Amino acid sequence: MQRCLPVQVGCAAACDVLQKNGIVAIPTETVYGLAAKATEEHAVLKVFAAKGRPADNPLICHIADIERAAEYGELPPEFFALGARFWPGPLTLIVKHRGGIAPSVIANTGKVSFRIPQHEHIRELIRDVGVPLAAPSANRSGTPSATTAEHVARDFSEEMVPLILDGGASMHGIESTIVDLTPLEEGKPAYLVREGAISYEELSALVPLKRVQKLEEGMTVSPGLKHRHYAPQGSLKLFYGNIDTMSVDIQQQAGAKTVVIAASEMLEDFPESLQVLDGGPASDPRVAAHRFYDLLRHCDSLGATQIFCMTWPTDSAIGRALRQRQEKAAGLI
Ligand code: TXA
Ligand code: MG
Repeated sequence: MQRCLPVQVGCAAACDVLQKNGIVAIPTETVYGLAAKATEEHAVLKVFAAKGRPADNPLICHIADIERAAEYGELPPEFFALGARFWPGPLTLIVKHRGGIAPSVIANTGKVSFRIPQHEHIRELIRDVGVPLAAPSANRSGTPSATTAEHVARDFSEEMVPLILDGGASMHGIESTIVDLTPLEEGKPAYLVREGAISYEELSALVPLKRVQKLEEGMTVSPGLKHRHYAPQGSLKLFYGNIDTMSVDIQQQAGAKTVVIAASEMLEDFPESLQVLDGGPASDPRVAAHRFYDLLRHCDSLGATQIFCMTWPTDSAIGRALRQRQEKAAGLI
């Protein structure tokens, strides 16, 4: 069997692998996921092993139909209100676990997270498998997420991941927005754990919501917050401020193995001797988000020891999501 199959033709083979408790890489509108049956501990353990993922970091359960979540989670009315508005789409909701999900998926949190992805074929695949698919981003733990089938193929050997469904480049290129609904039970606002394409403002219209900026002492909101994420091999330095003067700053600090990720408008400001990649238009974080992980991976393939990357405006959800991923990748947060 060929390892990479177009998602339109590969779902039957994927269903077979998953039902035999194997793992399959799947395209989603956010990033690629590494999927296994969420109800089978030993299937899920293969995902942790392939990624090198810390056991204390739970996985998102991907479902096709909102009603199916009730079998595994205790669902407050807000779950249905948010699901009706944003699913299928880049939103993950955390609720109390009722039972049935494998222990490693929830990583001792007592909570389970759900998301309905946008790809019609993937929802069909989930229905065919018959249980939720636990799927973290399909990258080695700590490194940039995968937004194409080629990224996944480069990160994992065929032995680890025998089948990759290819759905082209992920539409958003940045992981889903995550909201923890469990505080609502105690009359407290839900937590915005991670911002993605869906904004704080859009969610706040439907549910009382608090941002979690940083993991504080004693807080167990989402174990993923404390781990290193998205990091390229070279050291990443971010540049803020005025793009008219930035190229001078960058040139002064650049070394022999520096690769620059600059806004499209800046490309001509650099000498040819410097390796410069087009991060997207300065005013459009959507394009920049879509390219970000691919560019970090490109820097790695060029052997960059230092990556200088510009930043994009944060006046939109995707802009804030991109900035958060950039700062996390740079080790600033
Ligand atoms: O867009 C996405 O969310 C992608 C696609 C594949 O769906 N998935 C993704 O998974 O980004 P991952 O594992 O890279 O990030 C999921 C985050 C982790 O930080 C994890 O700690 C948190 O979600 N999370 C998942 N389940 C949780 C739970 N039960 N309680 C608390 N946090 C949870
Ligand atoms: Mg991830």
